[in-house]
Amino acid sequence: MIDDENCNTSANRSLLDVLDARLSRRNAMRVGLGTAGAAVLTACGGGGVAAADDAPASDRSLRLSFEAVAKNTADRVTVPAGYTAEVLYAKGDPLDDATPEFRNDGSDTGFEMRAGDHHDGMEFYGLDPGGTRPDRSGSTRGILAVNHEAFNDQFLHPAGATPNPRPVAEADKEIPAVGLSFVEVRQRGRGFEYVRTSDYNRRVTPLTPMRIHGPARGSALMKTKFSAAGTDCRGTINNCGTGTTPWGTFLTGEENWAGYFARSATDNTPRGGSTANSVVSLNRYGCTQGSTSRHGWETAGAGDRFARWNISQTGASADGTDDYRNELNTFGWIVEADPYDGTQALRKRTALGRFAHESAAFGIPVAGRPLAVYMGDDSRGEYIYKFVSEAGWRADDATPANRLTTGDRYLDAGKLFVAQFDEDGSGRWIELSIANAAIAGYAAYRFADQADVLVNARLAADAVGATKMDRPEWCAVHPVSGEIYYTLTHNNNRKVTPVGSTQMAVDSANPRSYTDAPTAATSPGNVNGHIVRLKESGGDGAATVFTWDIYLFGAESGADAGKVNLSRLTADQDFSSPDGLWFSPKTGTLFIRTDDGAYEDVTNCMMLLGRPGQVGDGAPEVLQYTKADGSTVRVQTHVGAIPTPDTLRRFLVGPVGCEITGTCETPDGRALFVNIQHPGKGIRRGASTDPASDLSHWPGNAGYGAGGATARPRSATIVITRDDGGRIGVDGDQVLNDL
Ligand code: FEO
Ligand code: CA
Ligand code: CA
Ligand code: CA
Repeated sequence: MIDDENCNTSANRSLLDVLDARLSRRNAMRVGLGTAGAAVLTACGGGGVAAADDAPASDRSLRLSFEAVAKNTADRVTVPAGYTAEVLYAKGDPLDDATPEFRNDGSDTGFEMRAGDHHDGMEFYGLDPGGTRPDRSGSTRGILAVNHEAFNDQFLHPAGATPNPRPVAEADKEIPAVGLSFVEVRQRGRGFEYVRTSDYNRRVTPLTPMRIHGPARGSALMKTKFSAAGTDCRGTINNCGTGTTPWGTFLTGEENWAGYFARSATDNTPRGGSTANSVVSLNRYGCTQGSTSRHGWETAGAGDRFARWNISQTGASADGTDDYRNELNTFGWIVEADPYDGTQALRKRTALGRFAHESAAFGIPVAGRPLAVYMGDDSRGEYIYKFVSEAGWRADDATPANRLTTGDRYLDAGKLFVAQFDEDGSGRWIELSIANAAIAGYAAYRFADQADVLVNARLAADAVGATKMDRPEWCAVHPVSGEIYYTLTHNNNRKVTPVGSTQMAVDSANPRSYTDAPTAATSPGNVNGHIVRLKESGGDGAATVFTWDIYLFGAESGADAGKVNLSRLTADQDFSSPDGLWFSPKTGTLFIRTDDGAYEDVTNCMMLLGRPGQVGDGAPEVLQYTKADGSTVRVQTHVGAIPTPDTLRRFLVGPVGCEITGTCETPDGRALFVNIQHPGKGIRRGASTDPASDLSHWPGNAGYGAGGATARPRSATIVITRDDGGRIGVDGDQVLNDL
């Protein structure tokens, strides 16, 4: 979902602050870059990770092998010749026999046992052929764990949402339309079908009871009317990216949760005024005094399930146990679920920090070593994070007796770090610890303890001078090299001459600011986004220094190669606004998905397949800008190897108005599941209010479900297979382990 919050008014890493120093150091930095590159090779050789002249065999042996899909604006899913895409599981599909077929006319209710809306991140969990037990290598049956990030009220109701005060029936229908679903799928022919009657099918909604785990469990900041002890909470919302743990559970990231809550116009006063800690925190997380909620659920009546969405301080207690003033602190976490077992409550993993989470990607587990989990915070100017577990990895935990208890071992104790990028292609991870003097002594917010640091991770990251990035979305870890890839989707606040506290100057890791019609014809910014990648020192997930470069810059192929199309993308490779990112563990192929508005005049959103090299395989480049005062700015960046048709190609274009999101595959790599989120352009962009006149009618127009050629559009999971039964996207039948 496009959601462009901008709450980071900290003074971190403004290029203007360091510009003079950089210009005077520029020649020295070029020397430094060469040194850093040499250091990478040395570290790789010593760390057991492939070095530049010893590239992973997978990258040489497996080639992309399909005909590139052309950009287009057709209202369908386009895949290469020789592939078949089928709709598998769409919004509203019943998850048991008791729930009626989905009519898709706005009259349907009962989302507690229907597929939710806005399918987003997704993971596959294998079952044995009989469907009776987990089988991590099972490829004929499995459970899809699906995030349902949001919903379209125009399509959910007969004629849109009733304004505030919201009718109880409408709110009760909307609330379970988001959250998660777990749905069994099984092979049918070459493709797959979902199993309507499976015992594995279930929904998790904003009302599902959950447990708070990790350092913030029982914190004063987590106490609510629902849980005076601060140990429990209800539900998960705005679930965006995902992850799979090495022990076989599902991780879901809570992203733009702040928008679901309302605060009174005078709520700063009872909280102690504008400089009070709770007010500083609420402002930093985008819930300022007077905020209205996206859906107005708090106006639907006196029931506690509605009252909780008003987070104003209304009670008389000192600790917040008589109202929901702290409710916002129970959202913004990575949440762990066992896809195979609905009897255990989901766990909010507070050790991993609170922000607008996207995916959670594990570094390659090494026996005896801590696990690293990489994460991003998707708002303009927010940060890149990683968590390093206290516990070392035990190989027998890959198939544990109790998966969530195993999660406790790795995800409830450890260190949280935030990234700082330097111009010379190096960077460092800074621990967010109450023991850090910059955090303990931070003037803008007074941290009480480590739980407070985790609840207010953004403020702690401000305090230590983390680098503001161009909206970090998903991250993914290369299964051979262990390098970490982060999408930075776009940022219209990235400027050559920034004005005010929310605009950011171009810098080495976020180096572009330019105009492009139609969305940024006059207001420059990073219009098309880029993908940065990191190599940990020594290949060690616990390292505190790394090297980096920019794997790809999104751009239109016709854009200026010296300023915008720095990766020299061709018409078969060009893209805008990279968002979802996932590596196939079977083939090492990178799946890049887009969530774009800037290139929508030419093409719907898409998925590209990549065979990336590694950090340092390209060359440094200097961009030159003229500031408003006429002075010159030169920005040194580091561009990855220019892709070839063998290493980057467009694989899929989605229907009108959609975003391409969650991607996973069966363990054998022969069936690919992809989520198509929020097709439907007219209504989403405010150009129409009539569901039947929307510019998209997918997947009804593809013959799926009710409505046919004039159907209301529906988010849906599709399954893609190769007509010859081969693995997705690559030549031959080799896999990484064979090479
Ligand atoms: Fe849910 Fe940042 O996308
Ligand atoms: Ca996005
Ligand atoms: Ca354009
Ligand atoms: Ca996203």
